[in-house]
Amino acid sequence: MEKFVIEGGNRLEGSLSIKGAKNSMLPIMAASVLSGSSEGVELHNIPDILDMHVMARILQSLGTRVKFNDNTLQLNVDDLHSYTISDELMREMRSSIFLMGPLLARLGKVRVTYPGGCSIGLRPVDLHFKGLEAMGARIREEKGYIMASASRLRGTEIHLDYPSVGATENLMMAAVLARGKTVINNAAKEPEIVDLQNFLNAMGADIRGAGTETLRIVGVEGLGRCSYRIIPDRIVAGTYLMAAAITGGRLLLKEIIPVHLDAVVAKMREAGVEIKATEDSLEVIGGELKGVETLRTLPYPGFPTDLQPPIMALLAVAEGNSTITESVFENRFKHVNELKRLNANISVEGRTALIKGVKKLYGAEVETTDLRAGAALILAGLAAEGTTVISQIKHVDRGYERIELDLQQLGAKIKRI
Ligand code: UD1
Repeated sequence: MEKFVIEGGNRLEGSLSIKGAKNSMLPIMAASVLSGSSEGVELHNIPDILDMHVMARILQSLGTRVKFNDNTLQLNVDDLHSYTISDELMREMRSSIFLMGPLLARLGKVRVTYPGGCSIGLRPVDLHFKGLEAMGARIREEKGYIMASASRLRGTEIHLDYPSVGATENLMMAAVLARGKTVINNAAKEPEIVDLQNFLNAMGADIRGAGTETLRIVGVEGLGRCSYRIIPDRIVAGTYLMAAAITGGRLLLKEIIPVHLDAVVAKMREAGVEIKATEDSLEVIGGELKGVETLRTLPYPGFPTDLQPPIMALLAVAEGNSTITESVFENRFKHVNELKRLNANISVEGRTALIKGVKKLYGAEVETTDLRAGAALILAGLAAEGTTVISQIKHVDRGYERIELDLQQLGAKIKRI
C-alpha cells in the first residue's frame, strides 16, 4: 500500500500547466460508444489517472479497442459486442453509470449494477432513471442487475428535480440518437456539460444550450468520428492554487480557463490571497490568510463541492473563524477528523463546519477517505510543521496525475513510499 510522506513548511514556487478535466473525460469517454465510425474517436489532453484506466477497462469489456499514449486516447467502438457492465467494474467507479444513456441509445439495451465511487453521501441515481424512462426506456431489476431497454428512445421534455451533473450528462448522451427533440430543464450548468456538448456536436450531434439551464437536443441518425481536446481541470487547478496559498508561496498556473474558477478565486481573495488573472492563467501570491464568514458549496457557477475539503485545509490556518456549509452532498466532511489530527480546530453541526483558525498545524499520520479529502490532507501536510504520512493514496491517484511530481517541481518535500 503506497503512502505519501510530506515534510511540511516549504513555500511552493514556480509554474505549472494543467491537464484535462477528469469530470469531462469520463462522460466523454462513455459518449465515444455513440460513434458509429470505424475510425473511432481521438481524445487529447487526457490525464493519466486511475479513473481513466478504470473507464478504459469498462469500455474494453464492451468491445472497444483502447490505445493510450502521451496523454492521447484512441477509442475504436465499431465492434461493440456487449451491453453488460460487470458488478466488479461498476463498483470501482460511480461514473460507470454514464454508460447507461449511450449504450441504450446505441444498442437498445444495457445491464448494470448500482455504481460505487467516493463515499461522500447517498448519491442515488433516481434522476438518471426517471429521465431515461421519460424517453421510453423500460428499467427493471433482475437478479441484482438493472436492466434497461428501448427499441429507440424518443425525445421528450424532462424537468430535473435537481441540476445533477451526472443525470444531465447521461440524458444528453441518451437523447442524441433519440427520435425527435428532447428538452432538459433545470439542467446542470457545469463547464463539463459544455465540453460534453461540444464533443457530441463534433461527432455530429445537434445540441444547444449547455451552460444554461435548458438543453435542447435534436436526435440524429448516427454519429461519426472526431478528434477532440478536453478542457483543463478546474478542480486540479483550484487545488494547486490553494496549495500555493497555504504555504505562503507563489504559483503561476498556465493553460487554464480562469472564468471556470471565478467562485473559487473570489473566496480565496476574501481569505486574503492575492490572485492575478489573465485570459488563460492565474497567479497566486500567498500572504496572511484570514477566515471567511460564509462559504456554501453549490452547483456551478457556485463554489464547487469538490474544492470544499481543500479550502477547509486552507481556512484551518487562517486568522479567525470561518464557516463552510456543504449543500451538494450530505456526507462530505470525512476529512474533518483527519485534519483535526494535524491540530486543526473544526467542529461540525449537520451540514455546516465551523473552523477556528490555528497558528500552526503539526505533522501526523492520517488516512485518505476519498479523492478530494486526500487533496485536503496533502495541503495540510505541506503547511504543517514536521512529517505527515498519508495512507490510502489510491483515492488521490483517481483524480490527480502523479500529484507528488507537480508539487516536488514547486519545491515541496513530498515522496511516495
Ligand atoms: C459530479 C462530479 C463530482 C462532483 C459532483 C457535484 C463527475 C464524474 N463527478 O458527480 O466530482 O462532486 O458532480 O458537482 O462529474 N442526486 C440525486 N439523484 C440523482 C443524481 C444525483 O439525488 O439521480 C444528488 C446526489 O446525491 C448529490 C447531488 O444530487 O447530492 C449532486 O450530484 P450530481 O450533480 O449528480 O453529482 P455527480 O454527477 O455524481
